[in-house]
This record gives sequence, structure tokens and C-alpha cells, in this order.
Amino acid sequence: MSIKYLDIDNSISYLKNNKIIAFPTETVYGLGGNAFNKDVINDIYKVKERPSQDPLIVHIDKIERIIEWELTDISDVEFEIVKNFSKEFSPGPFTMILKSSKKVPSNVTGNTNYIGIRIPNNHLALKLIEKSSLPIAAPSANKFGHISPTRKEHVYNEFKDQQILNYPIGIMDNGYIPEIGIESTIIKFDFKTNSIKILRPGFVTKYDLLNFIRNSKFNFKLVESIKYKKLDDNLESSGELIKHYAPNCNTILVKTCRKIEIEDLPIKNNFSIIDVNYLALSIKNISNYYKNLGKTDDLNNLTKFYYNELRLFERLNKNIQTNILYLVCDSTNKDLKYTCLLDRMVRSASGNIINILT
Ligand code: TXA
Ligand code: MG
Repeated sequence: MSIKYLDIDNSISYLKNNKIIAFPTETVYGLGGNAFNKDVINDIYKVKERPSQDPLIVHIDKIERIIEWELTDISDVEFEIVKNFSKEFSPGPFTMILKSSKKVPSNVTGNTNYIGIRIPNNHLALKLIEKSSLPIAAPSANKFGHISPTRKEHVYNEFKDQQILNYPIGIMDNGYIPEIGIESTIIKFDFKTNSIKILRPGFVTKYDLLNFIRNSKFNFKLVESIKYKKLDDNLESSGELIKHYAPNCNTILVKTCRKIEIEDLPIKNNFSIIDVNYLALSIKNISNYYKNLGKTDDLNNLTKFYYNELRLFERLNKNIQTNILYLVCDSTNKDLKYTCLLDRMVRSASGNIINILT
């Protein structure tokens, strides 16, 4: 058996025995292992088919652990700053990249000497960390480049055929559906230049960060550095990849300021649609599959169910070779949480975008 559902106590034993355990967070499910054990970290890279230079986020239950567990190499003054950011935005969808210590295996940091630290806002994840007294290194629990999982069943389906490990992957048994549904915001600190770079947009927005910096005693420059790169480009993080969170067929993002008609689309048959605001409702009847995610004034539900809808579509999509999936989105909504969803949609479509401007 390549997968096993486990209760909380067995999940803790699994983690302590250096086996992979998938667990829920408020963003997406993680594929976790003891961050101090390089073998289980290797197992994670192997089953995920993830490039070895792509670092894993380390999950902890409180910020003081970075000192207690010697995860980072930062000064007392730097720790005070980090602690203040953490108290403001954690537990939550917020990852801070800091200088890592020598104690952290180099495969956790992808040999970068930097470590991503996050405190997830989910009681099961926090219990797992607290009761095992271990930091958990965990990427999203999907194969590299594929859709992030937001249900335990997604993790099951993703790895049910794995034959790589000589033990089953554990999944914490629970019925939890992440409230956010897309990955955490990632920021990277540079204490030499007193600057912070946003590497991945998430539900902690640049305005949340700006407000916090302005109202604090810290004088940090904030730079947004969201990139769309190819695998062979020089990557600062795999979240920069243009192809990511991608379903198993040709996908095109249609950004539009109005309702669309069939004339607006380049391929006019054998297509499916995942829509927002019913912008493509007029062509529902000639599509193979149609789903409206919701309205843009209900952002939480749009992101919460986005990956689930992609996976549902993928399961029903029998014509992988010929079907086109159109993701249709509203280009007029500037809400920052909506733009996080757009960032994921651009990557789900591998950067194939049609922009309808009038
Ligand atoms: O919401 C989340 O962050 C979820 C849950 C499970 O916590 N995790 C997640 O992990 O999305 P993953 O590995 O799928 O995406 C993490 C991203 C990757 O693009 C990775 O390259 C980047 O974070 N990252 C992690 N550590 C880094 C580091 N030290 N330096 C630069 N980028 C880093
Ligand atoms: Mg991921």
C-alpha cells in the first residue's frame, strides 16, 4: 500500500520516525517531514519529483522556535524585527525567508542557505508540530508543477500509485477544507539593505505589509518581485515558474472587461470553461464542461474552491489531447486578493493569455 490515513497520534509517530506525513493547513495541504532529517527530505523531493535546488518551507508553531531549534542565523536585533512581523501576520498565510543555520540540512534550503519559515493557522498542523516537538519541512502535497491539493482525497489521488518509497505516505485523516485555498505570501528579508522582497503574492497583501511597516518603528523598503520564468531560467523560487498549478490539458486564460462570445475565442470547439461572474455564460451550452467559480465580490470562495474545481475538471476531462480549458476572469477587479487568484490562473495557463480590452 502506498498511502495510509493516520489519526493524530499515529501522524506524530510517523513524523518522529522520519516518514512522510501529509497534513492540512489553512492554505493548501503540505507533504511534510522532520526538517532535521535529510533522508525524509530526500524522500519528499523524490515522490514530488521536485528539482533538488527548490527549497522547502519549514513549518513551526511559534516564532520563538527559530531560536530554540536553531533554525536561523540571525542577530538578536534581526530576531526582534522578525518576531514583530510574525506577531502581526502569523499564524497565517505568511512565509518569511531568512538566513538558515548550519543545523538545517542543506536539502531543506535547496543549498541556498536560506530557510522559509511559516506558522500555519490550522489546529491539526500546529498540534503535529507541538506534540512532536519538531519543525516540519513541507512543500504543497502535489507532484511538481501540478495543482495544489485542498482535500485529503487530492493528496491520496496524487500519490496513490507511488512505488518510490518502501513505506506508505501517511495522510492525517481529517475532513478539513483550507479556508484560503491558495498558497501563502512569501517575503524575503535582506537586513543589509533593510529591504523586503515579496516573492509570491498571497492573502497577506502588499498593502498589509506596507501598513504594518509604516506604523512600526522599522524602516524597511518593500519591493514586489513577482516573476514569470521558465524552468531553465535562473529561479529565486519555483513559485516564479510560468507553468505551475497546471491541469493536464492545454489551458488559456481569458482576461476580459466584459461578457464574452464565441467570436472572442481562438479555438471554437471542443473546449471547457471555468468562469467567474458568469462572464462566459452565453457559450456554456456549446462547451464540453462549464463551471462558474462564483462572483468576484465573494473572493474567499473563489480562492477556496479554485484548485478543487481544476481537479474536478481534470477528472472528467477524457480528451486530454484535444480539449482546451478556458479560464475566464474579470480584468476590471483590482482587489489584491483577486489578483492573487489571477497570479495562480496565469500560471495554471502556463502564461497563455488573451486579453479582451474593449
Ligand atoms: O501555503 C504554503 O506556503 C504551502 C503550505 C503547505 O504551507 N506551501 C507551499 O510550498 O506552497 P511549496 O513548496 O509548494 O511552495 C513554496 C515556494 C516554492 O516556490 C519555493 O521555491 C519557495 O517557496 N521557497 C521556499 N523556501 C525558499 C527559500 N529559502 N528561498 C526562496 N524560495 C523559497
Ligand atoms: Mg507548491
